[in-house]
Amino acid sequence: MSDSHEKQLADRVAFISGGSSGINLGIAKLFASRGAKVMVFGRDDRKARNAAASLVEETGGIVIPGNADVRDPAAVATLFAKSAMAIGKPNIVIAGAAGNFVAPATGISPNGFKTVVDIDLLGTFNIFRAAYDLGLAPGASLIAITAPQGAQPLPFQAHVCAAKAGINMLVKCLALEWGQAGIRVNAISPGPIEGTEGVERMAPTAETKQGWIERTALRRFGTPADIGEMAAFISSPAGAYVTGTILDCDGGMKLGDASGDLLTVPARG
Ligand code: NAP
Ligand code: COA
Repeated sequence: MSDSHEKQLADRVAFISGGSSGINLGIAKLFASRGAKVMVFGRDDRKARNAAASLVEETGGIVIPGNADVRDPAAVATLFAKSAMAIGKPNIVIAGAAGNFVAPATGISPNGFKTVVDIDLLGTFNIFRAAYDLGLAPGASLIAITAPQGAQPLPFQAHVCAAKAGINMLVKCLALEWGQAGIRVNAISPGPIEGTEGVERMAPTAETKQGWIERTALRRFGTPADIGEMAAFISSPAGAYVTGTILDCDGGMKLGDASGDLLTVPARG
């Protein structure tokens, strides 16, 4: 890592929902290693405490744990106020908490559908509102973690597709309303990220995983650090004029099937 990278986020305070595992933990690690003060939170207090403790050990940075269900706006607001007292008001806020299960529409109860929409979409709104209400200085970077399902319909993902599509539109609306205050609002849409709960739920077998890799232009899964780099980029001066965008970080998966299986190349005679 270069010196400039080490200092890149030294004046930043990041609050990260879902920062206790997977992709968001990877973002938290990269941020803490580049000097940002970080608060990671989820529903499970012990999981967040363990995550924060390992991040402090691994990065030598300042990382505190939090505990709130993103579906509960009062709990999020209280956590944000407490965390601001401890490490300062955030200038980066990541709405990364989500829930997913794979089920046909006929196997999703109204409460199952509502649960995912509440965690993903309402949760993102609750987080961004709580941050705004706390008082964000110009230059603040709000980032939602969306997914390819937000733009691409997928069988057995009706609830997730609806929730993530809602996030994509929410990001654009907030970017329009809050731009005049110097607040930027963007989303990152990761492709499949190795070693995460999301991938285990969507592609549980080695064979399915291999199939996905063969259909992706860069022929590999992403890493949590890939998404951390994108979040750091968009929050840095390099991203200063970027708002209301959905940034794909997916190894080219969105481009379509890269395997060539759909065509047969005829022999040239
Ligand atoms: P993960 O490890 O399961 O992380 C989910 C996080 O959200 C955990 O920290 C969890 O902590 C927290 N969480 C869940 N429900 C919550 C709630 N109601 N309130 C507060 N926190 C809650 O998942 P992941 O696979 O890394 O996915 C992270 C994000 O990336 C999600 O937004 C997902 O949609 C997106 N994404 C993932 C992939 C992928 O390949 N994995 C691809 C595209 C997009 P607790 O359990 O303690 O609450
Ligand atoms: N198929 C169909 N419905 C399901 C389901 C599945 N695999 N898993 C849960 N549900 C339904 C439940 O049956 C329930 O509906 P009901 O009351 O009509 O029976 C509803 O979803 C809520 O389930 P519950 O377990 O009470 O929700 P929760 O708030 O405790 O947990 C989940 C939320 C279900 C999304 C859970 O999987 C979770 O916590 N996920 C976080 C981790 C994650 O998903 N990571 C990947 C991110 S991409």
